[in-house]
Amino acid sequence: MNRTADLEADVAEVLLSESEIQAKVAELGARISADYAGRELTLVSVLKGSLPFMADLMRALTIPVRIDLMEVSSYGGSSTESTGLVRILKDLSASIEGQEVLIVEDIIDTGLTLNYLLRYLRGKNPSSLRICTLLDKPARRLVEIPVDYVGFTIPDRFVIGYGLDFGELYRNLRFVGVLRPEVYAAAD
Ligand code: IMP
Repeated sequence: MNRTADLEADVAEVLLSESEIQAKVAELGARISADYAGRELTLVSVLKGSLPFMADLMRALTIPVRIDLMEVSSYGGSSTESTGLVRILKDLSASIEGQEVLIVEDIIDTGLTLNYLLRYLRGKNPSSLRICTLLDKPARRLVEIPVDYVGFTIPDRFVIGYGLDFGELYRNLRFVGVLRPEVYAAAD
């Protein structure tokens, strides 16, 4: 294993600093609060990667919000590739029927996970269903996804930090970065 005990020592490059992320979250929070002014919103976040974004975004909103959490995982695939076969590990804990729902995602890569989730959540009859993602990697998209709010569009690189993991680690970094090639190579 080529990983060190020092998480930051494994990072080759910081793509988005903590202050850039926080400024973007504030901007998204203001936009969403304006768009849903006078209404209530249900945020549905997808664990585990969206946890820091959800926690920060909900506190940047000034409208009344409910939150719910789902957890999904892809079947098979490697640690950096998704397969599109999605399994629900944790379902919604309350009905979203008739509610205005905003999905809060960490990253859209191929779009396969969200494509599945959109169909699943539409079947629960919310009055509206929109998507907010912190990161978008359009270069790898396999299915078209109507994304309403995007924090940052990033190049086709496997990123970690601010909720995003590699082998379940690095989620607690406060920035988004790229690991040293040896660290990725050691795990596959
Ligand atoms: P998609 O189904 O290919 O759009 O992938 C969505 C999920 O794959 C995300 O919610 C992440 O959990 C994971 N993922 C995709 N790209 C990355 C990345 O660059 N770093 C960490 N996780 C990623």
